[in-house]
Amino acid sequence: MRIQLKSPDEIRLMRASGLVAAEILEDMCQAAKPGVSTWDLDQIGRAGIAKHARRIEQEIVDHASAITKLGSSDSAKAELARLTETYTGLRALAKPGQSGSDLDQVIRSEVEKHKVRSAFLNYNAGGKPPYPGVVCTSRNEVIVHGIPRKGDVIAEGDIIGIDFGIFMHGFCADTARTVPVGNVSPQKRKLVEVGRDSLEKAIALCRVGSRLGDLGHAVQSYVESMGFSVVRQFVGHGTGKQMHEDPQVPNFGKPGTEKRLKSGLVIAVEPMVNAGTPDVEELADEWTAVTKDRSMSAHFEHTIAITDEGPWVLTRPSSTPGSP
Ligand code: MF3
Ligand code: CO
Ligand code: CO
Repeated sequence: MRIQLKSPDEIRLMRASGLVAAEILEDMCQAAKPGVSTWDLDQIGRAGIAKHARRIEQEIVDHASAITKLGSSDSAKAELARLTETYTGLRALAKPGQSGSDLDQVIRSEVEKHKVRSAFLNYNAGGKPPYPGVVCTSRNEVIVHGIPRKGDVIAEGDIIGIDFGIFMHGFCADTARTVPVGNVSPQKRKLVEVGRDSLEKAIALCRVGSRLGDLGHAVQSYVESMGFSVVRQFVGHGTGKQMHEDPQVPNFGKPGTEKRLKSGLVIAVEPMVNAGTPDVEELADEWTAVTKDRSMSAHFEHTIAITDEGPWVLTRPSSTPGSP
């Protein structure tokens, strides 16, 4: 019901959002070293958001001032088209008879629409306390939704899932990765590799005509063949103007079942792979989800557009349409 197919222009904006999310996630992954707290990672996320928010605001202000100086020549018209390709609201400034307060108002509403903000901070989900961070930091037996804390310090040999999401240009990008810290046990290393590769199996199927059951089956059958299990209680999701849109994207299922993927669908695929049983337990903070048997868990996520050319991994800088 809430499946929203995106136009090529919207997917272009979602790609820009995805690149910023990927850049900030990369910064946090690089910082995940022994002695660093998960609260420190949250600070890196906040600084990244603030930096890009300022950049977008400056771009809007600069474009607006350039537009007010444009004449009506053909080259001025071409320049106007370029300046307003992303910031369509600025087109209003090209009309004659604008006052300074109109300019302020247009800039304010354009900044509001396009600015970078956390998709997670204060997120409300079914009666839980609002989520307090800009990132989820999930160490070892934590599956997802670990809350960053000063006392939660990363140690040599940990695996830590880092999940980060923003809105930019009005569109969500949601991406996560589990990183091994220093020398990790062979079992943990294999878990992380299987989690990462299971996402790639799903991405390869992100094309027109595939079914959601095909994706789920690809993840599940691969993960189970490697001796691990997939979590059932949390699933991937459509994403766009809201972080969580329809359809749900399970990491389990039967081939040839469920909805067919269409061009313009954008989904966040996010396998959660446990070393032991798939069962989940929620901690008293109402967010942190751990494995019931306290076995290790790994989580990987990308935001992927289904295009006529094939999958476009919006949160992977090297990806192009059809080349995941
Ligand atoms: N990013 C998570 C997901 O992959 C959801 C995070 S919940 C929040 O869907 F509260 F942290 F925002
Ligand atoms: Co996420
Ligand atoms: Co997600």
